Amino acid sequence: TVLVVDFGAQYAQLIARRVREARVYSEIVPHSMPVSEMLAKNPKAIILSGGPSSVYEPGAPTVDKALFEAGVPVFGMCYGFQLMATALGGTVDNSGAREYGRTPLAVSQTGSTLFEGTPAQQSVWMSHGDACSAAPEGFIVSASTGVVPVAAFENDAKRLYGVQYHPEVMHSTHGQQVLEHFLYRGAGLAPTWTTHNVVEEQVAAIRAQVGTKRAICGLSGGVDSAVAAALVARAIGDQLTCVYVDHGLMRKGETEQVEKDFVAATGVKLKVVDAEERFLTALAGVTDPEEKRKIIGREFIRVFEQAQLEIIAEAGATGEPVEFLVQGTLYPDVVESGGGSGTANIKSHHNVGGLPEDLEFKLIEPLRKLFKDEVRMVGQELGLPEEIVQRQPFPGPGLGIRIVGEVTKDRLDLLREADAIARAELTAAGLDREIWQCPVVLLADVRSVGVQGDGRTYGHPIVLRPVSSEDAMTADWSRLPYEVLEKISTRITNEVRDVNRVVVDVTSKPPGTIEWE
Ligand code: XMP
Repeated sequence: TVLVVDFGAQYAQLIARRVREARVYSEIVPHSMPVSEMLAKNPKAIILSGGPSSVYEPGAPTVDKALFEAGVPVFGMCYGFQLMATALGGTVDNSGAREYGRTPLAVSQTGSTLFEGTPAQQSVWMSHGDACSAAPEGFIVSASTGVVPVAAFENDAKRLYGVQYHPEVMHSTHGQQVLEHFLYRGAGLAPTWTTHNVVEEQVAAIRAQVGTKRAICGLSGGVDSAVAAALVARAIGDQLTCVYVDHGLMRKGETEQVEKDFVAATGVKLKVVDAEERFLTALAGVTDPEEKRKIIGREFIRVFEQAQLEIIAEAGATGEPVEFLVQGTLYPDVVESGGGSGTANIKSHHNVGGLPEDLEFKLIEPLRKLFKDEVRMVGQELGLPEEIVQRQPFPGPGLGIRIVGEVTKDRLDLLREADAIARAELTAAGLDREIWQCPVVLLADVRSVGVQGDGRTYGHPIVLRPVSSEDAMTADWSRLPYEVLEKISTRITNEVRDVNRVVVDVTSKPPGTIEWE
């Protein structure tokens, strides 16, 4: 394991991902963790991330010098670099030598572990107010800029390295190479962490955890639950039962994808509950978005729990109890919630569906060490279809919150058609990776006048909401090529009855959310 010590900016997750891209396993730890605890994890190398502070600010995070004396290779970046410099007797001063953004870096390649084989001049991403003016004793200075005399230092004997810039960001042109030089040459690690190994390791761990007991997993049609289920299925076969609630609010072809393609790829035992009527009945007459969400959430839990109970009863007859619940928790959730210990037992809602009071599941979370792109790679490794592995985010309440107005079967069918056309054209134009997601919304309570054929029409508008985003917290509207918009618009107005207008939502988030409801 390589530990990435998080000094409080957003860089640690990116660094951890870059290390994994170099096929070396990495984990993030908070800077508040005592060095003894870090060392107890037996790390093969430690990386100190950047952070927003100045080493001279009162109360700025520091690092115990013992970290550099344990014989573990260390790589400091930006703030981590300055901490290293001060801890080891170098000089960092607040001389006004600040640099922000793309900066030319001059490196001395000979004798440098970090820079050998990279260009003498390279572009790097800087973001600092303080600067290192003298390296600690015993270190060679291997890079500088016009402003900063010491932009990188190295000590091969002690296996300590540092750079003032951010090698992890894309704008540092040889950043990944420099990071790999640290990992492979500085720390002597081998690129052995692969998706294949992740699968093998997880499969073995799940088998050991579950034994001959049974597990259940809810499938939503999304990537995370699908990959989690596929992994567990690989490990324990038909000791796993998956539950898929078809609430009738899915997009065209999605339920079939789960029922056919997913099952074909994994051989999983699947219980599909057709609950369309139940959901539509519960939603009848409802137009308020929050009320819709509540109803859908409530019905979902009821149906899901009923299905669980049935599976538990069937399993009970065979003597092996259902003890485990599979969840698709990802690493960013784990990091953001403080790195939880992973022993949580969750109690299923027992206020509805008649579950026994004391029913508790142990959790299987096979993705809790993985980033989203790694989950997709594991999905591919497990042979899941592209359509599932590369799927864009889709809200749990489904099309129910993409019809502005009352949700009816008729309107759902209409929206499904429009959505399928938009998706097909975006895919055909090769835009799937570029856009984060593209909700297609039916304004069911709005009508406008149109002319189609020779007659007047009075139909509904369809809204396209293509957005680009990193994490859905903020988003920008995607500048789709006009030809693609034209194609989508023409097809939808021609092929979808009752729709005579297509409009594009050009609002960023904030102020607009991605979904309309
Ligand atoms: P908003 O509309 O809040 O959406 O900008 C942010 C992201 O979350 C998705 N979303 C949901 N996902 N259950 C989900 O699983 C929900 O109830 C839900 N509501 C919104 C939305 O598609 C976008 O990716």
